[in-house]
Amino acid sequence: MDMTDRPRRLRKTQLLRDMTAETHISANSLVYPVFVIEGENIREEISSMPGQYRHSIDRLGEILEKTVASGVRAVLLFGIPAHKDEQGSSAWAEDGIVQRALEYGKKNYPELLYITDVCMCEYTSHGHCGILEGDCVHNDKTLEVLAKTAVSHARAGADMVAPSDMMDGRIGYIRRALDREGFCDIPIMAYSAKYASAFYGPFRTAADSAPAFGDRRSYQMDCRNIREAVYETELDIKEGADIVMVKPALSYLDVAREIRKRFDKPLALYSVSGEYSMIKAAASLGYIDEERIIKETALSMFRAGADILITYFAHEIAGYIAEGSI
Ligand code: PBG
Repeated sequence: MDMTDRPRRLRKTQLLRDMTAETHISANSLVYPVFVIEGENIREEISSMPGQYRHSIDRLGEILEKTVASGVRAVLLFGIPAHKDEQGSSAWAEDGIVQRALEYGKKNYPELLYITDVCMCEYTSHGHCGILEGDCVHNDKTLEVLAKTAVSHARAGADMVAPSDMMDGRIGYIRRALDREGFCDIPIMAYSAKYASAFYGPFRTAADSAPAFGDRRSYQMDCRNIREAVYETELDIKEGADIVMVKPALSYLDVAREIRKRFDKPLALYSVSGEYSMIKAAASLGYIDEERIIKETALSMFRAGADILITYFAHEIAGYIAEGSI
């Protein structure tokens, strides 16, 4: 057969495939989400996310230790407070759950990078991501509490803050508040294109943050849109975002690709709870090969353009990297 182009030549052996692979993953780019809960001696499995746990501060060391040992170098902290109110005031309390977790973590595991999720939904009695006026989340009043929360995280030792609320103007507002308080060197990772997604379902059980009424569609993005994601990202960058994010990951790889093409800021993808739980559930039924699916989905996210991947599978992926199997 007269044929010069034979792409199969470079697929013949593992050595050739590895040599010509276009996508490589490093544990430096992985972020592991950690749930911290008020109370003592707690390490409880999250029913909707098998293999993931909520830890009280006295047992936080167990998961931070495991993270360090896995080779993962960054965590994203989520707090589950004992007390919720209309304003979500425990979010910015000096002795709040995330603030104390930071204090513990920075002291005992200083080798990790501590990123904090800045949002109100875990702290408000109504479960919405901000201050309500009637049934609506009031944008500008929410900016005030978000800024207070971000500053209090920085004061408690956060290395980076990650606002996930989707209020307009929050990145600029938080940037100015941080700068005013002397935290001009603390970067902001903006959840820029955060979609209103059913993939967050298991997280809301984990963080006890489901809205008591309605949904988040008046602030999170509509999944039919991609130009809007570009617009949101552009605004966040103008307002001072250091890293931008697309969330969820798996159903939004086209959005990630578009953002990667258009902007030069580092891009994070958040492979969210629903993506994790679907894989866990299907694997536990024997329908899929868990390890291969973890690798394939993670690779697809980096191939789409992610510089950073936030994932509940961070430990597993770091393990595959260490053994050279991804
Ligand atoms: C807080 C927040 C959510 C997630 C990250 N930050 C929940 C939501 O917006 O309802 C979801 C993470 C996940 O599903 O893994 N607003």
